[in-house]
This record gives sequence, structure tokens and C-alpha cells, in this order.
Amino acid sequence: MDKEGPYFPRPTLELIEGVPIINLFADNWAAIASFQARPDDLVICTYPKAGTTWASEIVDLILNEADPQKTKREAIYIRVPFLEFVAPGVPKGTTLLANAPSPRLIKSHLTVELLPKTFWENNCKIIYVARNAKDVAVSFFYFSQMARILPDPGTWNEFLEKYMAGDVSYGSWYDHVKGWWEKRNDPNVLYLFYEDMKEDLKREIRRILKFLGKDFVEDVLDRIVHHTSFKEMKQNSKSLYDKIPTHVMNHKVSPFLRKGITGDWKNHFTVAQNERFDEAYEKNMAGSSLHFRTEL
Ligand code: A3P
Repeated sequence: MDKEGPYFPRPTLELIEGVPIINLFADNWAAIASFQARPDDLVICTYPKAGTTWASEIVDLILNEADPQKTKREAIYIRVPFLEFVAPGVPKGTTLLANAPSPRLIKSHLTVELLPKTFWENNCKIIYVARNAKDVAVSFFYFSQMARILPDPGTWNEFLEKYMAGDVSYGSWYDHVKGWWEKRNDPNVLYLFYEDMKEDLKREIRRILKFLGKDFVEDVLDRIVHHTSFKEMKQNSKSLYDKIPTHVMNHKVSPFLRKGITGDWKNHFTVAQNERFDEAYEKNMAGSSLHFRTEL
């Protein structure tokens, strides 16, 4: 156990409107329920491990004329406060946001139902990033080992069982991605896929620019692509969570930017786990027009 910082036990999950949320966050729910959005707030919303940090860096560069010196002004979790975040020894998301100048770029993992209503009432723009369920499971497993603000994942098999049952922080991956998919035609919502970003980042950045009503010349666009590659972000300490105290996140256990690929699930799922997963997946996604790629 890390000696640095206050000791706190691994959190438990509490249901908020039927969605499991870690107790540290749930204890601050009054501040989320009464959160006041501003009309120029821009939200990046995801199920955990879908590419939140990647999208955050891209959008922050867009809002800062693609100038990496400006986006290196602060660590990512200060530049893009995490709305519902609470952990001992670290400022709350709601506190950071109350003091943040407009326009605010906000990170959240909330389901479409739990996101505070004032974001909708104020017609705030929301970018949702979805990633295939299998790679999310693997990424979430490693992250749960290093992030003490999450319940202990146990073994890979134990974690996979919990994940398939929706018994993890933010609940069912299926409900999350499908809930937001229902909003995909809302003019204030842009629904992106991690796999599309891996396939052609420039094309997806163009989609973000269009959504934000911006237009950049080609070399500026190329600059954003360059600075948001996995390699560049991994070398940029301002993209990482490495200044978060180790009693909250221990990067020695697993780095925040771990592999950044599509298809790592193949290195983790056994044949039996994969069959079981595919069977459950088909049932849960039956009738949905939402399709994911698990390899590129
Ligand atoms: P892996 O654990 O599979 O490597 P989030 O930011 O939502 O927590 O998601 C983290 C996942 O996004 C990690 O996945 C991380 O490596 C990946 N990621 C972050 N930046 C990336 C980038 N520039 N390119 C590709 N993947 C990236």
C-alpha cells in the first residue's frame, strides 16, 4: 500500500437512479444534481476507458488554436475537470468547475440519464466517445488495478464477470453506449468511435471541428494529429495523470496511457471467455443499430 497521502479503503458501489457509482462520488451527489451548466460549456462524455483523455487533448488543442504550449499550461485533469470526481487529497470536480473560466471543457462518465439536466436546458455541446466492449473491459481491468478510487478488480476472470453483469463503476457498458446512441441525432451531440479515431484521426478531428463550427487549415490540422498521437501524448506529462497522488493512482502498477490499440482484448480473452462474451453481447445489443469494430 502506498504510504503517500491519506489511506482510504477501495470504494464500494452505490446505486444512483439504478446506476452503480463509487461511493466517493455518490456522497457528493447533491452537488451533481444541482450542478449549474453554462451555455458555452462543452462536455466530453464516455464510458470509462473509451478514449476520454484522447478526445480531451484534441478538443483542448482545438480551443487553443492548436498551440501545444497553451495546452501544456496545466495537467489534463485541471484543464478538463472531471465533473463527478471526488477523492481524498484531490480537488473535487465540482469545485474546479465552479472556479473555471468560460468556456469550460468538462469530462464526465455519466449515463445520458444522469448527466445534469442543465446541460440539456442550456443546449451545451456534448461529444460522446464510444469504444468496443472488449477493449474497454481490458483497459478497465488494468485501470482498476492502478486506480484506488475504483473497487478492486480481482482476477481478470472475476473482473470480466462483474463487467458483463454491469457490476462495475458506471454500470452496464451496453446501457451506457445505447443510451447515448439514442441522442446521436441531437444537433448538440456528436457521437464518435475510438476505432474510427484509430483508423483515421484527421477525419474524426474534421468531424469535431465541423461540430464546433470551426475550420482549420491543413497544417494546423496536421499539428493536432501529431500532438494527439499515442506516442506524443505518452511523452507529454500534461496529458497523463502522473501528478495525481499515488494513493489515488499508481502508475507503477499500470500506466494511464497503456497500449492505445484496438484488439488488445485478443491477448486477454480465452476462447471460452470470448464465446460467453459474444453470446451475452448479441443478446444485449439485439435490435440496436449501434455497431462496433473489435479489430481494424
Ligand atoms: P488502453 O488501456 O487500451 O491503452 P480514458 O482516457 O477514457 O480513460 O481511456 C484510456 C484509454 O485510451 C487507454 O487505453 C489509453 O491508452 C487510450 N488512449 C489515450 N490516448 C490515446 C491516444 N492518443 N491514442 C490511442 N489511444 C489512446
